[in-house]
Amino acid sequence: MSEKKMDLELKDDTVREDKQTQLEKMVDKNADKIVKILREKNYEIIEPTQKTEPEKITETRKKATGKTRVIGFSGKGGVGKTTLAALFLRTLKETEPSSAILAIDSDPNTCLPDVLGAESYETLSQMIEGYKGGRLPPRKFRQEFNTLLLKNEQENYDLLPMGKSEGQGCYCSVNNLLRNAFQEFVLKGDYAYDYVVVDCEAGIEHLSRKTSAFVNDLVIVTDDSKMSLKTIENIYNTSKEVKIEIENLYVVANRVANEKALNEIKRISKKLGIKYLGSLPNDKELKKLNFKGESVFKLSKDSPAYLKMKKITDQII
Ligand SMILES: Nc1ncnc2c1ncn2[C@@H]1O[C@H](COP(=O)(O)OP(=O)(O)OP(=O)(O)O)[C@@H](O)[C@H]1O
Ligand SMILES: [Mg+2]
Repeated sequence: MSEKKMDLELKDDTVREDKQTQLEKMVDKNADKIVKILREKNYEIIEPTQKTEPEKITETRKKATGKTRVIGFSGKGGVGKTTLAALFLRTLKETEPSSAILAIDSDPNTCLPDVLGAESYETLSQMIEGYKGGRLPPRKFRQEFNTLLLKNEQENYDLLPMGKSEGQGCYCSVNNLLRNAFQEFVLKGDYAYDYVVVDCEAGIEHLSRKTSAFVNDLVIVTDDSKMSLKTIENIYNTSKEVKIEIENLYVVANRVANEKALNEIKRISKKLGIKYLGSLPNDKELKKLNFKGESVFKLSKDSPAYLKMKKITDQII
């Protein structure tokens, strides 16, 4: 998507969200009257204090401590975001076996589940598809959201692929519901995850709209192409412009064989005040696994990419 189109889309969404806030304020102000009318019409009223407890939660979440850390992987298209996010998840799980981890694939072209070796899964957009044209009541949405996590439960982590978002008309109300469900089920509360690992779309603008306005760690993955280096600056600038609070920004080089390019990456990172965490080599075994469509969990522990990733993960957590 062009930057101009992205800007317009962002602006459009902000306007919609402003309208939504105005509407919410109006509803708050007239709550008593609205409730009275709804009761007369026999609508089900859920009191705000009445929390929707999930009927069942995934095995992983039972072990959650309630302190969530959100870690995103971003960068130019094709630099290795998905591969690094998946390897990070594996090394994280090995370091902290009892942690509850949610893996989010926010790329409409869903790839992370395959790289993680997930057998079967449903995307959020498939879940929403079922409501096409109909109402999407918040309570039902929260229940469905929880069911989706249950359906997608894997051996070492839970999975949330966002899927495609186009063709569903106004996505703004869905984004609002999603952000609320996130607060309730993912980031806060009794069933919060310990870690949320996000494989971002190339940009990071969508993060705050769909999931969380707070990211603890954002890893910018880069190769040695000019475009990718420029993307480090772009992501840095976007992180300042959009409504996302990022605690730590990091850079990781992927498949950069050339010393000169590596120095340039370090120079740019330093200039922007971003911590450089290290680099992953072009790993033959990783490439072979990808070619066969096999999971990063199968990568040997003495492979160069695994060893490097372990060191990078240690610096993040
Ligand atoms: N260090 C590495 N060694 C070998 N192969 C790698 C390495 N990193 C990434 N690859 C391969 O490069 C390809 C692109 O990587 P990946 O899909 O992770 O990039 P991406 O940034 O997520 O791409 P997209 O922007 O399309 O989502 C994949 O086939 C992956 O297996
Ligand atoms: Mg990817």
